Amino acid sequence: MTTPARSLRPPAEVTYAEELAALAANDPGERPTQWKLTPRAVRQFILGSDGAALSHVWQGKKTRTRITPKFLGDDALVERCLVTLLGQRGLLLVGEPGTAKSLLSELLSAAISGHSQFTIQGTAGTTDDQIKYSWNYALLLAEGPSPRALVPSPLFRGMQTGTLVRFEEITRCQPEIQDTLVSLLSDKALHIPELSGGDAVVFAERGFNLIATANLRDRGVHEMSSALKRRFNFETVQPLANKALELQLVKDQTEALLRDSGLKVECPVDVLEILVTTFQDLRLGRTEEGTVVEKPSTVMSTAEAVAVGHAAALDAAYFGQGRMEGAHVARQIVGTVLKDNPEDAKKLRQYFEVVVKARGQNQPSWQRFYESRKWLLR
Ligand SMILES: Nc1ncnc2c1ncn2[C@@H]1O[C@H](COP(=O)(O)OP(=O)(O)OP(=O)(O)O)[C@@H](O)[C@H]1O
Ligand SMILES: [Mg+2]
Repeated sequence: MTTPARSLRPPAEVTYAEELAALAANDPGERPTQWKLTPRAVRQFILGSDGAALSHVWQGKKTRTRITPKFLGDDALVERCLVTLLGQRGLLLVGEPGTAKSLLSELLSAAISGHSQFTIQGTAGTTDDQIKYSWNYALLLAEGPSPRALVPSPLFRGMQTGTLVRFEEITRCQPEIQDTLVSLLSDKALHIPELSGGDAVVFAERGFNLIATANLRDRGVHEMSSALKRRFNFETVQPLANKALELQLVKDQTEALLRDSGLKVECPVDVLEILVTTFQDLRLGRTEEGTVVEKPSTVMSTAEAVAVGHAAALDAAYFGQGRMEGAHVARQIVGTVLKDNPEDAKKLRQYFEVVVKARGQNQPSWQRFYESRKWLLR
């Protein structure tokens, strides 16, 4: 697969091509049919090799490659997901926005099937055709229905080739559209009544399965039919509870984003810690000291924390002195917290007046953060 060099975000199989090659070269066990790696190696791809390096030949040279941890905080969840995918049922990752459901489904597909490109992006406007197949109308009119005129969906191609298929935001689709999947997932066959003979049905090859994601905030899973629910194993992805892990993740990803854009910005740990602590306090509605704070209605996810970290670093690079400060964080947090509910502005100001102010009394970095509260007074 070719990805343009200027692609804003290459898929996981491109970003981690070297790691996947290292794992494949050091993976002697038996692989399930159509799996590119053993379940153990897929686990290592997602959770990392704990600093150990794997020897292999990469682009003609002997190399040692470390496997970086990519999904943090819940190793057992990753193992359960792998067990589900080894079985007959689909995997449904549910959770709050920004908990890395899509990331996990992409990583699983890239490691198991070699790519993560058979993806349906569910919306309220998703149609039956987008899930099954549609037609090239010029060919259809010229030749009538034929395999040549058929335009397969990602799911169709996944069934044909024994590949994992991703269904993003499945619950955004109308329930009747979701139900297209019910018989498809139990029969593991897709019927094409317009065609005849052997072309009229596609039987799923071994290796095919579905990884769906659903967000609990917008349109939850309650509208999903129980018939469809039964065809999935549900796994709930929780927000990162461990502050040290979240801090490490925000630091690593902010730095990686800066490297990608070729910018040098100093990101002091104490400033990133303020950012992560603020997110955790507002997410939980309680501070480490035990003070109760009002939770804003916006989701304070780790993905948002990374976005704020990156934006604060860009602010520091272009409008500051190349060093991230609390003021940059405060300026960027505003755009995350204040989305659609004016009440959230009050809650954020309250948090500054009660928690940030108190911490500032003995911690200079919190004091500077407190001093930048003018950015919240819009
Ligand atoms: N446990 C985690 N491990 C690794 N990254 C995480 C974790 N939690 C959150 N993230 C961050 O979230 C980003 C991915 O978010 P992703 O889009 O996959 O979330 P999502 O759960 O699919 O959200 P949404 O419901 O809005 O679609 C990662 O790039 C990373 O910055
Ligand atoms: Mg997602």
